[in-house]
Amino acid sequence: MLPTPKVVAPPSDDKRWKVVDGMMQRHGHHPDALIEVLHTVQEIFGFLTEDGLRYVAASLRVPLSKVYGVATFYHFFTLKPPGKHTCVDCTGTACYIKGAPAVLRAVEKAAGIKPDETTADGMLSLLTARCLGLCGRFAPVMVFDDQVAGKADTESITKRVLTYMGSECESLASEEHQ
Ligand code: FES
Repeated sequence: MLPTPKVVAPPSDDKRWKVVDGMMQRHGHHPDALIEVLHTVQEIFGFLTEDGLRYVAASLRVPLSKVYGVATFYHFFTLKPPGKHTCVDCTGTACYIKGAPAVLRAVEKAAGIKPDETTADGMLSLLTARCLGLCGRFAPVMVFDDQVAGKADTESITKRVLTYMGSECESLASEEHQ
C-alpha cells in the first residue's frame, strides 16, 4: 500500500497549479499518474519547468530522476519555454459545445498561427488542452498565461490576442525612440 500523500506546496501562487493539483487528486496522487499529470502541466504552462517537475515528483512520490527521465524521453514533452505569452484553448467536450471552436478560430485569425505554433516574433504560443476541469462554471475556457478567461467570446478573446501582439509593437516603438 502506498503511503499517504504529503501535502506539497505548489511552486507559486499561479492559479494554474490548482488545475494540476486537481488532476493529481483525481488520481489519488498515485505515481502511475505521472505521464497524465505531466501532460496537464505542459498543456496549461506550455512546457515543463524545473519547479513543476519537482512539484509533481514530490506530490506523486516519484523520484525526481524518474520524472526527468520521463520528461526527456517522450518527444511530446518539452523543457523549453514557448512564446512570451501562452494562450491555451480547451478542446474538451463541454467547452466545444459552448463555442470553443469559434473562439479558437478567432485566436488563429488574430495571431496568424495554428495550435502548437508560436508567432514569428515569439510573442504568443497557441496551445490546446483537454478538459481543464473548469467547464462547470467557465466553459468555454481559455487560459492566457496565468489567467483564466472564462465564458470566452470571440470578440473579447480577439482583443486580448491583439493586445499581446500590440504590446510587443509598443515596446519596440519605445525602444526605437530611446
Ligand atoms: S471541457 Fe473545457 S474545461 Fe472542461
